[in-house]
Amino acid sequence: MSSDDVTKQVFAPSSDFTSGAHVDAAKYEKMYAASVNDPEAFWGEHGKRIDWMKPYSIVKNTSYAPGNVSIKWFEDGTLNVSANCVDRHLETRGDQTAIIFEPDEPTDEAQHITYRDLHGHVSRMANILKDLGVSKGDRVILYLPMIPEAAYAMLACARIGAIHSIVFAGFSPDALAARVDGCDAKLVITADFAPRGGRKTALKANADLALEHAETKAQVLMVRRTGDEVNWVDGRDHDYNELVKTASDDCPPEEMNAEDPLFILYTSGSTGQPKGVVHCSGGYLVWASMTQEITFDYHDGDIYWCTADVGWVTGHSYIVYGPLANGATTVMFEGTPTYPDASRFWQVCEKHKVNQFYTAPTALRALMGQGNEFVEKCDLSDLKVLGTVGEPINPEAWTWYHEVVGKGNCPIVDTWWQTETGGHMMTPLPGAHTAKPGAAMKPFFGVQPVVLEPTSGEEIHEYPTEGVLCMKDSWPGQMRTVWGDHERFEKTYFSDYKNYYFAGDGCRRDEDGDYWITGRVDDVINVSGHRMGTAEVESALVAHETVAEAAVVGYPHDIKGQGIYCYVTLMNGVEPTEELRKELRTWVRTEIGPIASPDLIQWSPGLPKTRSGKIMRRILRKIAENDYGALGDTSTLADPSVVDELIDNRMNKA
Ligand code: WTA
Repeated sequence: MSSDDVTKQVFAPSSDFTSGAHVDAAKYEKMYAASVNDPEAFWGEHGKRIDWMKPYSIVKNTSYAPGNVSIKWFEDGTLNVSANCVDRHLETRGDQTAIIFEPDEPTDEAQHITYRDLHGHVSRMANILKDLGVSKGDRVILYLPMIPEAAYAMLACARIGAIHSIVFAGFSPDALAARVDGCDAKLVITADFAPRGGRKTALKANADLALEHAETKAQVLMVRRTGDEVNWVDGRDHDYNELVKTASDDCPPEEMNAEDPLFILYTSGSTGQPKGVVHCSGGYLVWASMTQEITFDYHDGDIYWCTADVGWVTGHSYIVYGPLANGATTVMFEGTPTYPDASRFWQVCEKHKVNQFYTAPTALRALMGQGNEFVEKCDLSDLKVLGTVGEPINPEAWTWYHEVVGKGNCPIVDTWWQTETGGHMMTPLPGAHTAKPGAAMKPFFGVQPVVLEPTSGEEIHEYPTEGVLCMKDSWPGQMRTVWGDHERFEKTYFSDYKNYYFAGDGCRRDEDGDYWITGRVDDVINVSGHRMGTAEVESALVAHETVAEAAVVGYPHDIKGQGIYCYVTLMNGVEPTEELRKELRTWVRTEIGPIASPDLIQWSPGLPKTRSGKIMRRILRKIAENDYGALGDTSTLADPSVVDELIDNRMNKA
């Protein structure tokens, strides 16, 4: 079947599924209308899904007005997020498993952590943090493997009102140092090593290096994961496994305002400097918990698995905060989809009887290429709902997921959202909507998407249509500010299109009014579902002594979705060799991390520039896509001949 035919197919949920679902088609229509017609009443009601210490009386107080962007939800209510994710379940489900930990090695035993266990772990960790001098409002960096201690540390921060900022364990010491300084962290929680896919990353050694480079003098709390030897700095470093032996498990949760920050998460934008996205306690938790329950149609007793890493927003909202607020059983997986072989995901599904499974298209594409036998040898009969996130899913991967993994019985939820949005924004609901492969379909409750004409910024009402995707009004899970730089928040998201939140994505609305995400319209690329600014890679490249100038663009990549294509102009007299290519690749990996590793490096004596000196990325993108027949107008270039040279020497001669 051609991809065109696949795109035209539709998949309605079975009547069996629909009848047991939280939300069917009629209920969706009714609730959606209520959520946008009277947000105060709707969220006034649904805000009660979490426990408040002091109830709110003001529901929504938000403004997108230019120069005065301000977002507050439930602003006079108080709560504690960790009490919501742990304590409130003790009476009803203390002995239920909260977290199933599946370690990297399949032969190592899985751990089942009950809500009662979790309460003890979180309280002890919280007391350790307090003893180390961390208090309400302080920032704590987490640089950890995917181990239960990562969840304990998040919830321990929440318990005492400290603000956590997780740095993905694949990031380099330099990237870690920038984040430690960015939020002026008091403490870094790390582990000795991070086992993953049969290899070990030296997290503690990376943290040591980072703290040598950072200006901020942070203390270190280290969890022993592998027990290997590490370097130790007396006075600065603290051993979690020792301290936890004597830590008290009595730590009353701090009363926090709904608008007190819960976490900062650094994410890439179109400039070189990652932004510290700030999420707050009340609205975020309402959003994470409601979307987790409704998007995945999670029911009490289900086993739910999101394969993301807690270093990304998906791990925050859909491994930890959303599911635990709902009293769910959530799987935490330390490994990779292909270790020891390509059946690992499916073996874990079988072993733990997973009901809802949530992963990224890049993983599906990689597994699809390995052959169906890896899936077919596992019993996947417990699966009910399948989800994807992170990038557009191609129809072939969608169909494979649906047929081979879901045996045609499991609705697929293609969830479009962002670090900035806190949780799902658009997705088909499994019991309500007829899915179309590759479409994000419908807005979640309270979400008001609009399609704007990119240049005029005019709202387009008719459909089918295509344009830039914006939001007309706020929702409880929306980020509140950029850490330490509210002006940047306004400039990034509210200045291109006044009075709207601009997501940075393009989208299409089809003849039925359903939404399809077409990808980023800014200089952000999406490599294996990891979001990256091309400017970050460029600044890493030009920091190398041989590089005079660099321009980085994305290009279509079969497995990763997008690959990293670098045009590099060397300093005068530097010889372009294969060795130098390798060196630059390693250089970028050390500067940023392995996820930023360039796929293709083209030596470019000249780059296409306008007379005012601006690099014309549109042209570079086309050449990288091997689509140089459609370069468009090149007449404004200072020297049009550089284009021919670049085309002749292009690297992606697919
Ligand atoms: C992209 C990840 C198409 C999009 C939760 C967005 C998607 C960026 C989808 C945010 C999807 C995410 N379909 N594109 N279902 N989900 N994206 O902040 O370009 O890491 O702007 O958040 O990923 O990436 P982030």
